[in-house]
Amino acid sequence: MAIYLSGSEKTTVEFAKIYAKTLRAGDVVLLNGEMGAGKTVFCKGVALGLGIKDEILSPTYAYMNDYGGKLYHYDCYRLNSGVQAEALGLTDYFGGSGVCVIEWSENIADVLPEGCKTVTIKKLGALNREIICD
Ligand SMILES: Nc1ncnc2c1ncn2[C@@H]1O[C@H](COP(=O)(O)OP(=O)(O)O)[C@@H](O)[C@H]1O
Ligand SMILES: [Mg+2]
Repeated sequence: MAIYLSGSEKTTVEFAKIYAKTLRAGDVVLLNGEMGAGKTVFCKGVALGLGIKDEILSPTYAYMNDYGGKLYHYDCYRLNSGVQAEALGLTDYFGGSGVCVIEWSENIADVLPEGCKTVTIKKLGALNREIICD
């Protein structure tokens, strides 16, 4: 486990870029933290670290955005169950050839694979965040 402190959005992006270098195909990263903690910001950094040039937009209305099969960015905020995620085909990408980064994974806890990585972002103030990786 490692704990980092970030004092700006830019620092979080830079940290996530470095973190992305530790990821391998098939990895599933659970991105935890309250609304506004910086989960989507972190995912932007992961995308940059993976060499993805597209803009990362919150997939709130799509559940998941596919960035060329390299990165699958999930927002499960509006999902109620793992069964629902499975029915939508959202679980098909776990352990595949891309990296899955999942916001609000607790909503689909029963269908998450074994051995997920976790990144937890805690809001300490307007700009300060604690980022816990394991
Ligand atoms: N240190 C920081 N790291 C990440 N985001 C930060 C930081 N400080 C302020 N912010 C702001 O917090 C917000 C995080 O938004 P977002 O990533 O969409 O949150 P989430 O996806 O967790 O709901 C952004 O407006 C961002 O500018
Ligand atoms: Mg978000």
